[in-house]
Amino acid sequence: MISVEVLHDVDTAVALITAGHLCAIPTETVYGLAADAGNSPAIARVFAAKGRPSDHPLIVHVADVSYVGDWIQELPEWAVVLVNAVWPGPLTVVGTRTQVATDDITGGQDTVAVRVPAHPLALELLKKLREQGVLGLVAPSANSFGHVSPTTAQHVVEELGAYLAEHGDAILDGGPCEVGVESTIVLATSDQPVILRPGAITQSDIERITGVQVAEASSDAPRVSGGLASHYAPTANVVLVDAEELDGLPQSVDAESAGLIALSSVPTPTGFTRLSSANTSSEFAAQLYSAMREADRRRLSVIYVVAPTGTGIERAIVDRLSRASVQVEGQ
Ligand code: TXA
Ligand code: MG
Repeated sequence: MISVEVLHDVDTAVALITAGHLCAIPTETVYGLAADAGNSPAIARVFAAKGRPSDHPLIVHVADVSYVGDWIQELPEWAVVLVNAVWPGPLTVVGTRTQVATDDITGGQDTVAVRVPAHPLALELLKKLREQGVLGLVAPSANSFGHVSPTTAQHVVEELGAYLAEHGDAILDGGPCEVGVESTIVLATSDQPVILRPGAITQSDIERITGVQVAEASSDAPRVSGGLASHYAPTANVVLVDAEELDGLPQSVDAESAGLIALSSVPTPTGFTRLSSANTSSEFAAQLYSAMREADRRRLSVIYVVAPTGTGIERAIVDRLSRASVQVEGQ
């Protein structure tokens, strides 16, 4: 079996992408599966590689805030202030699309999602591609649809390696992702921000930076695939518990097949496999997905998670965990 090419230099990635190949790329949040946003057949292969339904829109990644106008017609003033303050960084804005943002990117919606990632290799790649006329890269998280997002190049090998190898595509290795959960997605089509997906840029960050209050999402807010009931899910069952509930567990469950993800202040129940022990919520987020993968690697059947509490990145953690823990019939 041929194995997928893992790159450490950007120039080979530039050559592959301009030739119409896919390349998984590191970002500060999670690894993305990138293709030239102007190349429809390559975009179609992104959907094929992930097994992603074609009406789920993709995020366009650009090298610099000054390029957002290629993709989004006009941003409200608060959003201009926000992207200038945060980018490069873990924030995506959704705005009214220009003609450059084709239906295969937007899922036929009249809006498009754009971000500038804060990873030196991703930025170098985007800049070099731009010099070759590539206006942006679509890059959904580089996992099979519904699975846990990858936060290392090795995770991408495990998720999509066979497909990428078979098609002559590659993975650019930029080390482990610092943030570990996907970007905050903000709807920027009105005079107030709406958070479509929580992330490391928090509601209070947005309100502090813009001076504008975040509004609740209305029922006609755009679709977010991470908004599906079951998403970000490992094979093991994810069960959210309070620290106090842990004490009684070893008597009632098979400890041999149970794992724990919790802050280091929470002790490991007897017999459980400790999967992560972060000291802060940010560390918890950065370790969360690799801890879930470790549970699957060890063939544990259940992961007990004590989520950190708070209104910052904790909201993103709880959002992902609640979707990972939903049991949908037939899945
Ligand atoms: O951190 C991230 O955002 C990562 C890295 C690779 O940049 N990317 C990522 O992409 O998480 P993906 O495709 O796994 O998630 C993108 C989310 C989807 O839930 C999609 O529905 C939403 O963005 N999205 C994209 N375009 C949209 C639009 N026009 N309106 C509303 N949501 C949109
Ligand atoms: Mg994803």
